[in-house]
Amino acid sequence: MTVVSVPTGNPYEVLIGGGLLDSLGSHTAELRPKARVVCLVSDTNVWPLYGQQTQKSLEDAGLTVYPYIIQAGEQSKCGAVWLELLGFMAEHKLTRTDLMAALGGGVVGDLTGFAAATYLRGIDYIQIPTTLLAAVDSSVGGKTAIDLPRGKNLVGAFHQPILVLCDTDTLHTLPADIFLDGCAEVIKYGILYDADLFDHLEQYGPAFDREAVITRCIECKRDVVVLDERDTGLRMKLNLGHTIGHAVESLSDYTLSHGKSVAIGTAIIARASAACGHTAPDVRNAILHILNRFGLPTHTAQTAAALTEAALSDKKRSGGTIRLILPREIGDCFIHPLPAEDLEDFIKKGL
Ligand code: NAD
Ligand code: GLY
Repeated sequence: MTVVSVPTGNPYEVLIGGGLLDSLGSHTAELRPKARVVCLVSDTNVWPLYGQQTQKSLEDAGLTVYPYIIQAGEQSKCGAVWLELLGFMAEHKLTRTDLMAALGGGVVGDLTGFAAATYLRGIDYIQIPTTLLAAVDSSVGGKTAIDLPRGKNLVGAFHQPILVLCDTDTLHTLPADIFLDGCAEVIKYGILYDADLFDHLEQYGPAFDREAVITRCIECKRDVVVLDERDTGLRMKLNLGHTIGHAVESLSDYTLSHGKSVAIGTAIIARASAACGHTAPDVRNAILHILNRFGLPTHTAQTAAALTEAALSDKKRSGGTIRLILPREIGDCFIHPLPAEDLEDFIKKGL
């Protein structure tokens, strides 16, 4: 097992390793000895696989568990499900010393975190990520949210978990496509912060060392979150490939997955940035090569005009300027403010 400490305002630890689920109860009881009840949220895919084991671990530690199972999928990250979940907790009389736990991917994690942030003005919660994306990204950093019909993550709160327990064994049951989506985020950390991580991924491809790579990604995320917990500056680097990626994703009417869209966004950035002289050709080639190595897409049939329009309607726009994240070297990226009117030309260079 590896432990990563996250010294945010409310500090916590991330435990990473195989076979950790069975120790959830003892860690929880040690951290919050006064807790009596846990509302354990999961989804219809994850609960049948790991629900019983997780519930038993908590019960063996003397906790009463109330499971709440949502329909798997992004559509559950909505106001109606959030309100139902709050109602369920109120019915079971959870108090401020009780806990929530999120067993699942980013959907379960974001919804549970937001319910924990808002129930009784905030109670503690634990993240138990079961997708690669949730392990390396959404379970750490305290961003919680639900979607509105007008867009994703439009309602939310910053609320750090008290513990993240990442049992790498749970990743064995992930469908290959969903695992690949997480790989796009893993590659992102290599490009952003760590040439050695990038080299390991290039060497091993999708057979990378699970515990070591997840740990390194979490350390990278931890380092930036600690400097910018409320996402007002440096943390935006985590959006490498995301501004254009979100445009690709929304133009596909969400038929193309988030990870694959981000991979295309990253490839467009690499090509356009090299064409503008910000990124050396060998760095561009290394990025395109690793995306191909993982079987991630690097091209879209969308036009620069359509991508620009979709990107400009994204909430990450600040005034008349788009902040793009561009690679200087592998492991070193910078924030590049670009006037919105220049975005279409920039994207054209990267298609
Ligand atoms: P997800 O939670 O929908 O999980 C993907 C699918 O995998 C689901 O069908 C789920 O049931 C299934 N699944 C999960 N674990 C499994 C396992 N071990 N075995 C078999 N099937 C399993 O999607 P995701 O990609 O994990 O997360 C996407 C969400 O995360 C989005 O809502 C996104 O907005 C959010 N997100 C949040 C942050 C943040 O910082 N809070 C960061 C990135 C993404
Ligand atoms: N996933 C981006 C962030 O946590 O800031």
